[in-house]
Amino acid sequence: MRILLLNGPNLNLLGTRTPEVYGATTLRQVEESCRERAEQYGHSLEAYQSNHEGALIDAIHAARQTADAIVFNPGAYTHTSYALRDAIEAVEIQTVEVHISNVREREPWRRISRTEPACVYQIFGRGVSGYLAAIAHLHYRSIHPPITLSYGGHPDQVGDLRLPDGPGSHPVAVLIHGGGWTGPFTRDVMDGMAVDLLAHGLATWNIEYRRIPPVGGWRDTLGDVAAGLDALEVLADHHPLDLADVTVIGHSAGGHLGFFAARIARRRPQRFVSLAGMLDLHSLRPDFDELLSGFMGDELDTGIHRVDPIRNLPMGIPIVAVHGDRDDAVSPDQSRRFAAAAAASGDRARLVEVAGADHHDLVDPTAPSWETVTECCLG
Ligand code: DQA
Repeated sequence: MRILLLNGPNLNLLGTRTPEVYGATTLRQVEESCRERAEQYGHSLEAYQSNHEGALIDAIHAARQTADAIVFNPGAYTHTSYALRDAIEAVEIQTVEVHISNVREREPWRRISRTEPACVYQIFGRGVSGYLAAIAHLHYRSIHPPITLSYGGHPDQVGDLRLPDGPGSHPVAVLIHGGGWTGPFTRDVMDGMAVDLLAHGLATWNIEYRRIPPVGGWRDTLGDVAAGLDALEVLADHHPLDLADVTVIGHSAGGHLGFFAARIARRRPQRFVSLAGMLDLHSLRPDFDELLSGFMGDELDTGIHRVDPIRNLPMGIPIVAVHGDRDDAVSPDQSRRFAAAAAASGDRARLVEVAGADHHDLVDPTAPSWETVTECCLG
């Protein structure tokens, strides 16, 4: 795949421009690391930056001859330019929109994107690493494009369905991404896993959900993941899914959400796999109080026990708690304590500690420990 990395106005100043918002990395460095990442995946990448709307439109037109995909940060044109949106639509080249900053938590005018509707995906608020995430997303999309379907009326109530080759019905893995329930992390985090499990004969339903803000949105978030799981019943009317063989797989805060999705959903899944899950919220205090307060709002002190997996056992379905022993984002103690408590409550619970793996290795098919993770997910 040939990727065009396109940057709009003022992004030539990266590194010196309001570094407290955009960081210290220069555009040249961004372009270099993007080229490297694309090549690691077996793709090529050309980079172009302009401060002029017309020049960006010309570059998009020219990409018809030279590119199969575009990673595009339109800068402030994002919020105004219907002409750029028309250009993306006209050339029909899959485009991922990237914003370094969290445009949803800055001035209200930055929340509007005129270009996003023409793009296949939007990544924001992850710093310059968002460009690399965009390349990974395009890579996995090129291996197996998802069918994106809504399970509710909100733009975040969607999921990506992927079906393996061959006739069904296929066992299903429901994937729930992490990111501390915050806005910038979205379901592309699980793309690699979604594509990899297909090769093992599983259909994958990689769900998005409403995250915070608004502060204290935990009811919406939990309601969404349960609704996403329940949506399988409707999906199974149209696609060959085996609803008697459903595994919920959640990573990090998605492990926490997966636990409650499985508890709340009308139709119980057959298995729960937690990958580096946040499963003992109480013990994360006070270090994680900022995140937890975002999730719980002013109910943190009074309500945490209601949304703490370890305090809501037994689960009633087989559990595998997987954790890398090099995880310095979420301590392996979370899984150790949870698995022990689940077993003590009567659940069939297994703890798998993955030697040498860090927090992100558990959702990265290129990590050396991947085979172990896959085995856990397959049950
Ligand atoms: C930006 C966000 C835009 O609002 C702003 O005008 C930019 C950069 C970002 O990468 O965060 O120039 O696209």
